[in-house]
Amino acid sequence: MRITQLTVDNFRNHKHTTLQLDTGVNVLVGQNAQGKTNLLEAIYLACVGRGWRTTRDSEMVQFGQERALVQVSAVKNFGTVEIAIQLGLGLKKSIAINRVPIAKVAELMGQINCIFFSPDELKLVKETPADRRRFMNIDLSQIDKTYFYALARYNKILQQRNAYLKTNNNPRELSIWDEQLITQGKIIIAKRQAFIQKLTPYVVAKHQELTGGNETITLTYETCTDLAQELSAARERDLRLHTTTVGPHRDDIAIAINGQDVRIYGSQGQQRTAALSIKLAELDLFTAITGERPILLLDDVFSELDSNRQARLLKAITNTQAVITATDAPAIGKIFTVKNGTARL
Ligand SMILES: Nc1ncnc2c1ncn2[C@@H]1O[C@H](COP(=O)(O)OP(=O)(O)OP(=O)(O)O)[C@@H](O)[C@H]1O
Ligand SMILES: [Mg+2]
Repeated sequence: MRITQLTVDNFRNHKHTTLQLDTGVNVLVGQNAQGKTNLLEAIYLACVGRGWRTTRDSEMVQFGQERALVQVSAVKNFGTVEIAIQLGLGLKKSIAINRVPIAKVAELMGQINCIFFSPDELKLVKETPADRRRFMNIDLSQIDKTYFYALARYNKILQQRNAYLKTNNNPRELSIWDEQLITQGKIIIAKRQAFIQKLTPYVVAKHQELTGGNETITLTYETCTDLAQELSAARERDLRLHTTTVGPHRDDIAIAINGQDVRIYGSQGQQRTAALSIKLAELDLFTAITGERPILLLDDVFSELDSNRQARLLKAITNTQAVITATDAPAIGKIFTVKNGTARL
């Protein structure tokens, strides 16, 4: 899969920008605050239906404007796809695939898959469990619609249950939500379990490549063993703390190198290498599952890596379309200069 063209109108600091992308590496070069990351965010929006840095669509509309438009054309194994997303102040976003409007964001999922990689992701290993859950959620939503729906339902029920817990204290009434929470929660848990299981061999292989085979990495999905039983056992505590204390919204991924928890004991370098292995493994897993190589979006990643890791990263993405932002042009790829909300070859 590859993107051939990106066009944005009134999107963040871009009034009107069009890029014809190359099959391989594309580099967006420019000083700070010129609009490089904004262009990656536009691509991300066309892939997953939401912004990278915000959940509020209106933030992406250019200041002083009413509407923003993002259009992305891509070539897939079987034909082409054109995504158009219009964002408006105080309006629900409208999305069209090949000019046909869709009713639900879920229909957009999987049309164009991307993997976003920023310095924040290099912290994936040492950051909070919420970051690792987000990683699973974004990936699974792109490759599995059932997951996307289950997660949306789960979050809604969880919100209602938590709202009840804020002001009420009848443990029996909680069962209204628990049944649905368990149904959706079990789907989420099973799919995450399978995802981590499938991802692990790819992570192990990438990590061996990056470390020269000196270290062995393992990933373990940490969740409840019996959601129904643990949820009912936690009722008293939930009422006391006014929130739902068990469930997949509290899950984590344990990452160990040579048996030691990297989240806690890993050096900065080990944590970064582990994160890099996970991101590169995602590329291979997506390809294996969907039959299409996803597009890699790299935001400011090169400046964060030493030359050794940079070289290995470039080697790992030779058969991948990538859009990279940087302040200094590397000696590769098709280079666009981004300046004050415009991009030129
Ligand atoms: N809705 C908006 N309307 C207009 N401008 C916006 C909007 N949202 C963000 N901006 C502006 O976009 C500018 C550039 O953002 P961007 O993050 O793309 O920069 P960048 O080129 O990636 O810079 P850096 O190298 O620092 O990461 C910022 O100055 C910001 O104020
Ligand atoms: Mg940036």
